[in-house]
Amino acid sequence: MTPAAGDSATGQRWDPERYARNARFVADLGAPLVELLAPRPGEAILDLGCGDGALTEALVARGALVVGVDGSAEQVAAARARGLDARQADGEALDFEAAFDAVFSNAALHWMRKADAVIDGVWRALRPGGRFVAEMGGAGNVVGIRTALLAALERRGIDGQAVNPWYFPSPEDYRRRLEARGFEVRSIALIDRPTPLPGAMADWLETFAETFLKLVPAEARAALAKEVSEALRPSHCDAEERWTADYVRLRFSARKPA
Ligand code: BEZ
Repeated sequence: MTPAAGDSATGQRWDPERYARNARFVADLGAPLVELLAPRPGEAILDLGCGDGALTEALVARGALVVGVDGSAEQVAAARARGLDARQADGEALDFEAAFDAVFSNAALHWMRKADAVIDGVWRALRPGGRFVAEMGGAGNVVGIRTALLAALERRGIDGQAVNPWYFPSPEDYRRRLEARGFEVRSIALIDRPTPLPGAMADWLETFAETFLKLVPAEARAALAKEVSEALRPSHCDAEERWTADYVRLRFSARKPA
């Protein structure tokens, strides 16, 4: 899923074909979150960071009336190609007013570093009694990958942390923000979810960590991705060349009081 303000904010590009090849698991693993949302036929639902709409479609299949928003024009086009109502919007500046029974978000909020602005926009978008159900990268997410990336950049004299596009909060941090805005938090927890990748670690890096790879010249990026992959091989790759990402999810359900 996609940075809040589109590609220019982070240097991360969202190529729907590359995403479909390397990131289909993001939607495939979203089923428990859909169950937590428990969409009902006829409900108005906002899918915040809908990406190419793979999971939005699952909500529509349950009879909900779904609007998807995403920062990436390319991903919005891919979602529209599925026949979905998808719109380009900045997740940190949502401008819906009491329009939805629920706001749903899978694997997108960690690209939106202005968490309080996101929560404000979700609050405004919800009707009284509306639910905010989401999953994102949480504290400790991809810590091995991040450490290897930052170390490889540091060996080149580059401070990768300065461009970090990701926000992986603890449950305590996110609960405090939700409650400060007035939400009732029904559940919030970290879930360790080592995630098998469909390809190599270099593919994951190219798909999701472009902000960091772009700190070196184009001709040096493949070597950087290879160096990071080799550093991760002992911990993230098995003898059959199957790669795993060290994902930790923060999953929560909150409610705007009626
Ligand atoms: C995640 O879903 O946890 C994630 C995706 C892209 C970059 C970093 C983390």
